[in-house]
Amino acid sequence: MKLVIGGSTGFVAAELISQALKNPAITSIVALGRRMAPVPSEADPAAAKLKSIICDNFERYSDPVKKEFEDADACIWTIAVTPMKLNTVPWEETCKISRDYATTAIQALHALRQTPDKPRRFIYMSGHFAPRSRAEVPEELQNHGLIDYGLLRGETEALVLAYGEQSQGAVQSCVVKPGLIDAPGKEKREIPGLPHIDLPDIAAALLDQVVHGFEEDTLSNSDLIRIGQRARAGELTA
Ligand SMILES: NC(=O)c1ccc[n+]([C@@H]2O[C@H](COP(=O)([O-])OP(=O)(O)OC[C@H]3O[C@@H](n4cnc5c(N)ncnc54)[C@H](OP(=O)(O)O)[C@@H]3O)[C@@H](O)[C@H]2O)c1
Repeated sequence: MKLVIGGSTGFVAAELISQALKNPAITSIVALGRRMAPVPSEADPAAAKLKSIICDNFERYSDPVKKEFEDADACIWTIAVTPMKLNTVPWEETCKISRDYATTAIQALHALRQTPDKPRRFIYMSGHFAPRSRAEVPEELQNHGLIDYGLLRGETEALVLAYGEQSQGAVQSCVVKPGLIDAPGKEKREIPGLPHIDLPDIAAALLDQVVHGFEEDTLSNSDLIRIGQRARAGELTA
């Protein structure tokens, strides 16, 4: 399987790349980012399956980027302005980065595919509090002044899922809604109402789902823990 990871330099993407390098079902990894992703040393035999590609326009792909989508089987999209960085990016830019970049990617996965009979899989990483309508806005978003941001992420979820449905099976889309992602050495934050998940578990869950197919079109934090832990236990006993 050839996997494109959108947002190659991020916290989650780094773990995805590390686990995908060890996963025999994934034979080619394209790490797509605005900067080069750290590539393992050439001494590591798995390093040959990773290609780091710089993308300088996430709304209109260059020919080399388009080429990578032609034979891709799946894409995991991690790019977004995260809540911590919201104050550093103008709102219009936040919408473009967190919504339009993702919809461009799912369209590319569909439109550029060379073997139309084979379905592609697309995962959009969203968050626990991302309502798909104003009526669903939880109190927690109101308390943190994040209503518009949460709705933007929820709107993107809906667009990604609708795109999959309209493609009539050509692209299968899935939205994942983790809570706070914890990793060794990373300060553990507590936000009332937000569940936690460990970084190795979420990465294992996302890779399991692109390889084996989506259990549901929307996966909650508890789904991701269950799938990730099952996948990691399988690796240990394999
Ligand atoms: N971390 C968590 O606890 C958590 C919890 C729930 C949901 N999530 C969601 O999971 C996803 C991944 O999170 P993360 O923690 O890995 O985020 P992250 O470390 O901030 O990584 C985000 C990625 O997006 C890229 N990016 C940001 N702005 C960009 C732009 N203008 N153009 C191109 N690329 C851009 C970053 O590239 P640079 O490295 O070049 O900046 C980076 O590769 C996000 O959607 C996030 O909202 C995360």
